[in-house]
Amino acid sequence: MDVKWLPQLTVSQLVLTLFAIYAVYLVCIFAAYIWRINRIFRDVPCKQRHWLYGNMHLLPTTCSEDRLLFSLGMTNEFKRYYVWWVTFAKASLTVCHPETVRVVMKSSQPKPTGFGGVYRFGLPWLGEGLLIAKGDKWARSRRLLTPAFHFDILKQYIAVYNDATNQLADNIEKFVDSGKKFDVFPHVSNLTLDIILRCAFSYQTDCQQDTGSSRHPYVQAVEELVMAWADRSRTPWLYPDCVFYLTPMGRKFRRNCDFVHKVAVEVIDKRREALQKSGKEPEKKYLDFLDILLKAKDDNNVGLSPMEIRNEVDTFLFEGHDTTASALSWALHTLAKHPEHQRKCQAEIDDILKDRGSDEILHSDLPKLEYLTMCIKESMRDNPPVPIIQREFTSDFTIDGKTFPGTIYAFLTLILKICFPVVAAYLVCTR
Ligand code: HEM
Repeated sequence: MDVKWLPQLTVSQLVLTLFAIYAVYLVCIFAAYIWRINRIFRDVPCKQRHWLYGNMHLLPTTCSEDRLLFSLGMTNEFKRYYVWWVTFAKASLTVCHPETVRVVMKSSQPKPTGFGGVYRFGLPWLGEGLLIAKGDKWARSRRLLTPAFHFDILKQYIAVYNDATNQLADNIEKFVDSGKKFDVFPHVSNLTLDIILRCAFSYQTDCQQDTGSSRHPYVQAVEELVMAWADRSRTPWLYPDCVFYLTPMGRKFRRNCDFVHKVAVEVIDKRREALQKSGKEPEKKYLDFLDILLKAKDDNNVGLSPMEIRNEVDTFLFEGHDTTASALSWALHTLAKHPEHQRKCQAEIDDILKDRGSDEILHSDLPKLEYLTMCIKESMRDNPPVPIIQREFTSDFTIDGKTFPGTIYAFLTLILKICFPVVAAYLVCTR
């Protein structure tokens, strides 16, 4: 049958027509999504937004400290939660009060690794290690690595903490003599890298030896990776990999990833070689983290693959030194600013060491360092090493009586600073 009313199309015209129909279909879907997301967030507190950039243009471009201060200003203004628009198309519900934060922390919403999710940008570096993995993958790794989190394991490392800290004290003593100002963070980062390498990986380096004021190349690479990760997550046009890796930032990120992966592989290979050479099980009371990674087997007797092992080594090398370096540096800064508290901490330590021939701190001394512990906790509350984390909506979610559907593409950002003023007041009042 000849259908007269249908236009006679060539193949290329037909393809173009189908393509145009598909494009219109996609535009309609996108428009419906934009309409829906706007409807859901219309009565959520928010800053005035730009039709294209959303709220992104409000973020200071000067430095990360200004950005953090800006975010704190937002939490002060909105108190419990607000929506932050990443362009016109992505909404990030930000919770910033102990009660709203608790709702999110008690839930099992996953870390966002899809397009625009902050954790996606860490995948090329950390892979699906514990920090980024979710669901069954996370649960399996977490189960296999549980022995590594046993509290008793830490007891054996106190000698390493003493030794590495003595080295730090030697490194910064010369600044005391010269009376010059200096940045303590590179020194403390080299210290925490030294400690995590020796404790978790039984890996000896000279990473504290050559410090003028310089960072160890691994510390330097991690710092640049973290900066690139943060810069990319607030620059939506860098979200597609094909754009990011063409930029100088993307190329540097790739180079740094290659470098830190090389370090991780070197650490793993050395241990494998040592195990193969000795041909027997390590004779230790407690296995270190790397032993556990190499030996762990699940219920089906399947161990971690080489890539899974490398991801966990990268994750622990990063998480194990960067967070602690930040916490310790801020604690030193805070104590320096408050000499009256510093004197009390010193008195507490002097009291413990008074009848000893050495200034080694023992594991059994730690519970006695009550005032110092409170100062470190207060400093971490005031300057959290990880001030912001993110989760993804995957099921309906109620905050302050408002339910957000789990089918929308939106994120929950938790600002962990100034969340716990009540605890701070308690700490201050007990002394
Ligand atoms: C002052 C020190 C530390 C702070 C403030 C800190 C903070 C955090 C925070 C906030 C998270 C959650 C991240 C998220 O949900 O996005 C986290 C996760 C994690 N941290 Fe730390 N951390 C510290 C030290 C360490 C150390 C020393 C290690 C390893 C030796 C470590 C290993 C991990 C791992 C593996 C995860 C992922 C855990 C999981 O999801 O099962 N952290 N940390």
